[in-house]
Amino acid sequence: MTPEQNQKFQKNFPSILVDELMSKHINMRIGGPASLYLATSDVDELTDAIEMANKEKIPWFIFGGGSNLLVSDDGFDGLAIQVAFREVKVREKTIIVDAGAITGAVARQSVADGLEGMEWAATLPGTIGGAIYGNSGCWGGEMKDIVVTVDAIHLPDMKRVVYPNAKCKFGYRDSVFKHEPHIILRATLGLKKSEDPSVVNSRMEEFAAKRKECQPFSESSAGCMFKNFTFKDESELERLKNDVKEIPPEMLAKKSLSAGWLVSQVGMKGEKIGEAQISEKHGNFIVNLGNARAQDVLMLTSKAKMKVRDEYNIMLEDEVRLIGFDS
Ligand code: EPU
Repeated sequence: MTPEQNQKFQKNFPSILVDELMSKHINMRIGGPASLYLATSDVDELTDAIEMANKEKIPWFIFGGGSNLLVSDDGFDGLAIQVAFREVKVREKTIIVDAGAITGAVARQSVADGLEGMEWAATLPGTIGGAIYGNSGCWGGEMKDIVVTVDAIHLPDMKRVVYPNAKCKFGYRDSVFKHEPHIILRATLGLKKSEDPSVVNSRMEEFAAKRKECQPFSESSAGCMFKNFTFKDESELERLKNDVKEIPPEMLAKKSLSAGWLVSQVGMKGEKIGEAQISEKHGNFIVNLGNARAQDVLMLTSKAKMKVRDEYNIMLEDEVRLIGFDS
């Protein structure tokens, strides 16, 4: 970015920050500075900033809670926009929620309001926008099961759209928003009135306890680094039965191998590069022990991928978005 472009943004967006360290905004606490950083709670300001960035040919990216991101140690020479609109309205069994609302807080509120269907998400990190983008899920629940509509801006024509669930093309950790550029603004979620709120509350507490027991819940991480591996067809399943001895029956039943299980099978749990470590608790998490660099994390993911490929002939796919690694 040129100094002139920088000044132009600062003049038009008084709350914009210059050379803001992304490590302050990313759950992994890693990442160099973004040339410009704008946290906005106003849709018009957000669209104005994107239009100006497009006009000036400045790279930009948008994020919510920073839970599923890895930003390069060199930072990002462009504009980072954080969605900070967070209104939540509960109308009987429907929740109308802004993209920047914290998913876990919305889930807990839904349970407190006597609703059922979102209790699995109480410990999900990140925002509603991010959860819709990646169709996040855990403990048997997924965003696709509760999204009724999504309000978004369709890029590059900047048109406002409202998509019903089917148009969001949700799949495993996938949605239309990963393939066609949009900005998610708001969603309508459909839940059920719970017949026994105390049962739903206990279920939520059980899921939370499970997360604390099986995942590095209180350490800095980006959640799962890799997607689980889904068998494409029966022939692939047969090949895997030969290559991967003793596939746990529940994974065979789900036709999906846990990436964390695969990483632990190749002996990578606890492995460290610099201050990045593959979690001792769960092989699909990399935790920042203090001053880990993005480079350390990438080296660890590459090593895990290579080992899984060499031993099992399976290519693990990244689940985490990488920013600032292009040049
Ligand atoms: N397992 C191991 N070692 C490990 C990790 C897992 O043996 O290091 C075994 C477990 O013991 C269990 C099986 O693998 O028998 C499945 O493990 P888990 O229940 O942890 O589920 P997962 O498939 O590894 C998925 C999601 C998580 C989500 C959990 C719980 C993906 C990539 N991961 O993990 O989502 O929280 O289920 O529902 O789909 C995320 O996406 O960021 C994420 C954390």
